Amino acid sequence: MRFVAAIGGSILLQDYDARRFQEYAEILKELSKEHEIFVVIGGGKPARQYISVVRELGAGEAKCDDIGIEVTRLNSKLLLLALGDYAYQKVPHNFAEALEYSASGKIIVMGGTEPAHSTDAVSAILAEYVQADMLINLTSVDGMYTKDPNKFDDAELIEEITASDMMETIKGNDVKAGTYEFFDMTAIQMIKRSNLETVIANGNMPENLIKAVNGEKIGTRVISE
Ligand code: UTP
Repeated sequence: MRFVAAIGGSILLQDYDARRFQEYAEILKELSKEHEIFVVIGGGKPARQYISVVRELGAGEAKCDDIGIEVTRLNSKLLLLALGDYAYQKVPHNFAEALEYSASGKIIVMGGTEPAHSTDAVSAILAEYVQADMLINLTSVDGMYTKDPNKFDDAELIEEITASDMMETIKGNDVKAGTYEFFDMTAIQMIKRSNLETVIANGNMPENLIKAVNGEKIGTRVISE
């Protein structure tokens, strides 16, 4: 199977140490024996911190995004270090490069591409571009909820949702640099138009990646209409 895994920067850099990178590297190395893997890494807290400085400097939103992208690429380099020879040791800056580098047969790790979306969108476009069999989004919550689980005790995990329903749910979300919320519009549009098999799961438990790849019931599954 060929799959794209998106890992949030906040997952990898929670404690600013190497542990999460190492845990994910071990799992990815093992999975790469059977699968072709593309990983997209998010910006997390460091991206948001850098973006707030850029905003204070009076730069526009696209410039803020640009700095965010740099941070996602920096985070990608950390995972490349953890993966060593299992990964292609260069971060692609666009989808064509990602496909080109994948001819090496190694794991590909990339961050952002251009302003105005999040790495969730990058992972969905990449999955389309390389015609992946599956997209796995590893985030800081168990999946998609009926309401914000941090604010409402009665929020329930949605086990299955169509891309159209998901689109309706996230319509009003923020689209500022550093604050693209849980799954941006571009990502869902890609998932919808290509019927991408997508699973959103909690990345704080790296073994969830194995479960998602093995088709175990986990997190939220985005289904076609
Ligand atoms: P992310 O959107 O991936 O990080 O990239 P995040 O929203 O902080 O989420 P987690 O914590 O990693 O899950 C960080 C910022 O980089 C810019 C956006 O401003 C985004 O908020 N970015 C990223 C882009 O403009 N384009 C990209 O292709 C990727």
